[in-house]
Amino acid sequence: MAKEVQTDQAKGPEHVAIIMDGNGRWAQMRGRPRLFGHHAGARRVREIVEACPAQGVKYLTVFAFSTENWKRTQTEVAGLMKLFRRYILRESRDLYESGVRVRFIGDRVRLDDKLVNLMDELELLTSGNDRVHLTIALNYGGRDEVTRAAKRLAYEIETGKLSYKDVDAETLSRFLDTHVLPDPDLVIRTSGEARISNFLLWQSAYSEYEFIDTLWPDFTAEEFARVVGSYGARDRRFGAVKV
Ligand code: IPE
Ligand code: IPE
Ligand code: MG
Repeated sequence: MAKEVQTDQAKGPEHVAIIMDGNGRWAQMRGRPRLFGHHAGARRVREIVEACPAQGVKYLTVFAFSTENWKRTQTEVAGLMKLFRRYILRESRDLYESGVRVRFIGDRVRLDDKLVNLMDELELLTSGNDRVHLTIALNYGGRDEVTRAAKRLAYEIETGKLSYKDVDAETLSRFLDTHVLPDPDLVIRTSGEARISNFLLWQSAYSEYEFIDTLWPDFTAEEFARVVGSYGARDRRFGAVKV
């Protein structure tokens, strides 16, 4: 797509997405419950957000909870939901004051009303900010997102607002949760697993990937800078041949 071809590689990635994996193993290695790792992981997020402007990263998207993570024990799921609520309550003011615009992607229907209200409030509070755009994927799944988009698109067609003839990739992407965001240039996954686990399936069609061994609670701003820096050496072709 024309917009992607114009990406200035020398400038580094404008949008970095992170699959924050390895909290459970980090805790296990310390003989502690998995939730201990999730708390340590949550504390890392601010440091990485703060590292973005110096790296020229305008958009940071982080995977916090997948549509498949409900399969975990009730204790872990409930603990994570409580952590998300506490995180928003604790961090809102600071995020706002440091110019971070926060958005959430994912299906809110299955989330607790109290949590959804806090998410809405934080989005509204930070809606005038533009220093860093932090998107938190919560109850997010790529297939679920595309399915919900297709459903809304089908509704527009059924109610006569759109013709099936108008359906192309551009139209469908307007119905995605990420419709206001550029596609990620770089996707980082921590903890050594080399898979996408249903993250940004549509949007990462031409993203670069970095799979690194560090467990998420150990991921520092220095390592982030190193991984983001290595992106410049990559040759993104988007299917074309460079002349
Ligand atoms: C990622 O860490 C955080 C969430 C999925 C909520 P994990 O909890 O998956 O940690 P590991 O992969 O079991 O170590
Ligand atoms: C992906 O990690 C989801 C998040 C980081 C929130 P998982 O740990 O859930 O993925 P799998 O199960 O290893 O594929
Ligand atoms: Mg994991």
